[in-house]
Amino acid sequence: MPDFKVVSASGPWLHCADGRRVFDGSSGLLCANVGQSSPKVRARIEEQFSRYSFGGAAVVQPHIQMELMDRLCRAVGRPEDSTALTTCGTLGVEVAVGLARNITRVRNRKRRGDILTSDLSYHGNSALTLALAGNHARRPRREDALGLGPAFPPPYPPTHAHEGRSCDATCADEIAQEIDRRGAENVAAVLIEPVNGTTGGAYVPPEGYLRRVAEICRGREVLVIHDEVLTGLRRTGTPLASRHWDGAEPDLCILSKGLGAEYTGVGAVLVAPEIAPLIRHQDADPLPAMGTMATHPLQAAACLGVLDELESMDLTAFTARGKRLGESLRALADLTPVRDVRGLGHLYGVELEPGLLWPLMQQAEKRGVLFYPFTGAGHPTSEGLVVAPPLNSTDEDIDFLTAAISDAVSTLDRNG
Ligand SMILES: Cc1ncc(COP(=O)(O)O)c(C=O)c1O
Repeated sequence: MPDFKVVSASGPWLHCADGRRVFDGSSGLLCANVGQSSPKVRARIEEQFSRYSFGGAAVVQPHIQMELMDRLCRAVGRPEDSTALTTCGTLGVEVAVGLARNITRVRNRKRRGDILTSDLSYHGNSALTLALAGNHARRPRREDALGLGPAFPPPYPPTHAHEGRSCDATCADEIAQEIDRRGAENVAAVLIEPVNGTTGGAYVPPEGYLRRVAEICRGREVLVIHDEVLTGLRRTGTPLASRHWDGAEPDLCILSKGLGAEYTGVGAVLVAPEIAPLIRHQDADPLPAMGTMATHPLQAAACLGVLDELESMDLTAFTARGKRLGESLRALADLTPVRDVRGLGHLYGVELEPGLLWPLMQQAEKRGVLFYPFTGAGHPTSEGLVVAPPLNSTDEDIDFLTAAISDAVSTLDRNG
């Protein structure tokens, strides 16, 4: 881990005590989506601070939280949704799981509330979410896994071997088989990252896959939950990653990193209007979904500032910049150290030949760019860089980033 003495930060840049500046090539932990020290976020927090700093829902009417929920739903094009706020992505997933179980118990009289996840997934660091997800590096011991585990292979090559063909939409049929094996009356939801985050390094599902997942689930009265903790609010270009494909809209959706954008811990669970009323149905189980800090006014103020930043972006230029970033990175795949480049918008995985990850991180650091690594999928595991600059990086920033990474990769090519 680099040991820079950071004295200040602005946008995607960290300024060090020795006068150097370093570019944040992965937006911190894929969360500094609108860069650091945003004046818009600061103004919102200061404004709220001068009014009052705490007003949980049981204390005063949560006006600012209601404003945030409304604004968020409109920002992702689901204006009729109901929303629950939480303090982080993990708790968002936990609340979504609870809501899905409750909804399907009332609506479909389910016997069990199984949640199906993929072999290559991360959904948070609580006992439940670690036990459910398929991130091999973070799986608990079998005896600590609450009897849970991932349930189906994702449609990505290293984890999913086919004879003579690559992954396609029909990979979703393995979800159908797993639901049928357990009995649909025992399955509440399929929980899935619509575009893979840091576990496998930005894998994008094949055309038609997410639509087929939605159809399979609908046909069996199973809900679809999209974990958009990392991808939500334009990381992949669109407001939600699922919008890259028709017919892929989920029943519930969790956002987090893109909403708090590192200024605050936050999670938001969006629930479609057709099912949300069931949560308050007389037969519904009690649902203690709120935590002490989950409706904090300063948290809501920071998120409103983040939405202000996102809404002030020139979307045409932003989309073009993401495309250019992707083209420059894909060109790296011609170089020997690089095995594959994949991704969308401002989220890419640059997979490397084994053993080159840490040398490349060092070379990039020498050129003034920091990256987050992935060491996730397959046997042996693949490794590489997650390239995910802040969404409001400029053209010059992106040029700097791509020149640095391509120079760093070329050095390894020459050394190799
Ligand atoms: C896809 C996904 N889900 C859930 C989480 C958990 O979010 P948090 O770390 O805010 O609890 C993460 C965090 O990296 C994530 O990438």
